[in-house]
Amino acid sequence: MSVSKPVKRVTTHILNEMKIRGEKIAMLTAYDYSIARILDEAEIDVILVGDSASNVMAGFDTTLPITLDNMIYHAASVVRAVKRALVVVDLPFGTYQGNSKEALASSIRIMKETGAHAVKLEGGQEIVESVDRILSAGIPVMGHLGLTPQSIYKFGTYVVRAKEEEEARKLMEDAHILEKTGCFALVLEKIPAKLAEEVTVSLKIPVIGIGAGMKTDGQVLVLHDMLGITQEFSPRFLRRYHNLYAEIKGAVQAYINDVRTQQFPNEKEQY
Ligand code: KIV
Repeated sequence: MSVSKPVKRVTTHILNEMKIRGEKIAMLTAYDYSIARILDEAEIDVILVGDSASNVMAGFDTTLPITLDNMIYHAASVVRAVKRALVVVDLPFGTYQGNSKEALASSIRIMKETGAHAVKLEGGQEIVESVDRILSAGIPVMGHLGLTPQSIYKFGTYVVRAKEEEEARKLMEDAHILEKTGCFALVLEKIPAKLAEEVTVSLKIPVIGIGAGMKTDGQVLVLHDMLGITQEFSPRFLRRYHNLYAEIKGAVQAYINDVRTQQFPNEKEQY
């Protein structure tokens, strides 16, 4: 009789131990049950239900329009598929900035209605009150600094952040503030590799990079980008592991052709 081994879940503590041991952390986004199941079976460490769903799932230009209800729908679908990975959910724009009570209420909804394990917020000093309040309810928080897409209208572009000394100093300060407040991990997006390395070395919590070089404790990519489903988005940091756009299109065209030429279904494919 074969007894299947119980799956050891990835926790925030395990991520911390991985940093101490120098083991790299692999994180990807997912927004639905079927994909999350594949990622989890492949043994991804962290699944991020990112507000990038606003772009890749809903077709908006920015991450700003996605709502808390939308995020809860995506996150609950992901959680139903996951047995092993840590599931982190982005708090969407407008649900935590400037109002710690609302930040806590939004996070509680995510935890209660989705079964996810942690939330992620963009920003440093300016959101510390919200981070603190969420943490006080026992909800783990992941920080996000550097290019923070929810502030795109403030930045004006998606170019590399913190290249100048003053912004780099502020980012380093913010990273330490977030660690001190109690964040269990930090995402650094699109900043110089040297700065990302300095932040990673100076923090005890794991630092996950996207466009932040080789020396962070782990990496994250948007799944639709790394699988080549999205076409227009081609920053230098993005490695495409597949060209699924072309593959899916080719398969759909083959199906259309089979239907039109009456090659599908055949005799074996009927009752
Ligand atoms: O929303 C998202 O996918 C993210 C990653 C880019 C880190 O925040």
